[in-house]
Amino acid sequence: MKAIVLEAAGLQKAFGGNRVIDGVDFRLTAGELVALVGPNGAGKTSFLNLISGQFRPNAGTIVLDGHDVTGLEPKAAKRRPLFRSYQNGGTFGKLTAVENIAMTGLVRDMDRKTAETRAAEALRRVGLGPVADWPAERLSGGQRKLIDFARLLLARPAVALLDEPTAGVNPVIMEVMRSIIAEMRDAGTGFIVISHDLPWVFGLCQRVVVLAAGKVLTMGTPDEISADSRVREAYLA
Ligand SMILES: Nc1ncnc2c1ncn2[C@@H]1O[C@H](COP(=O)(O)OP(=O)(O)O)[C@@H](O)[C@H]1O
Ligand SMILES: [Mg+2]
Repeated sequence: MKAIVLEAAGLQKAFGGNRVIDGVDFRLTAGELVALVGPNGAGKTSFLNLISGQFRPNAGTIVLDGHDVTGLEPKAAKRRPLFRSYQNGGTFGKLTAVENIAMTGLVRDMDRKTAETRAAEALRRVGLGPVADWPAERLSGGQRKLIDFARLLLARPAVALLDEPTAGVNPVIMEVMRSIIAEMRDAGTGFIVISHDLPWVFGLCQRVVVLAAGKVLTMGTPDEISADSRVREAYLA
């Protein structure tokens, strides 16, 4: 049996009286990719915020790579097996492409030279070698999302959380992301990927979790979920 890399039990998050995550149980094993889908406002990003520590849960527990990380700060050492990308691309405009990626190594205690060498490699791998020394603010939105994504190659995490990585990017970039994710998944990284591009993410995942109004509506294989009329209804609600 594969190792469990992430387990959340009874997770709950409320803002005022609004329960945005309402009793979610979730388990991810090494080398598993789960697609997290659901209508806007379902709580998908909030769920990732709980796992990564941006939000502190009102109830429930989170065990990451064998350590209880419930309530720990995002930067806590025990959260280092985790990597998180952001819906809007988390780049710093004044830093160059290579510096942006190298930062991920520095916060993980890599020395500067190793971080910069590996950042340059990661940039070449995603096809952005020629703009390595450009400030991120001079790059297109799609290129900035690719830089945010390339940080994944440096982090080599046990668990990766990707929030709408393909939103607003062209098909060439989508294919670069797909092949890197597939390779890392097959090498043992566990992934949670939020995406509204169901064909793209269903081609990568073993399992789909459908979130609606802060609860798991249903889960299953891509084929099962595609055939589930409740899922269509949730999107239309
Ligand atoms: N920081 C916050 N403060 C208050 N409400 C929030 C906050 N973050 C998210 N929410 C609310 O939580 C709900 C779920 O949002 P979100 O997790 O962003 O959904 P999704 O990513 O599925 O579109 C929404 O009603 C949103 O307004
Ligand atoms: Mg979101």
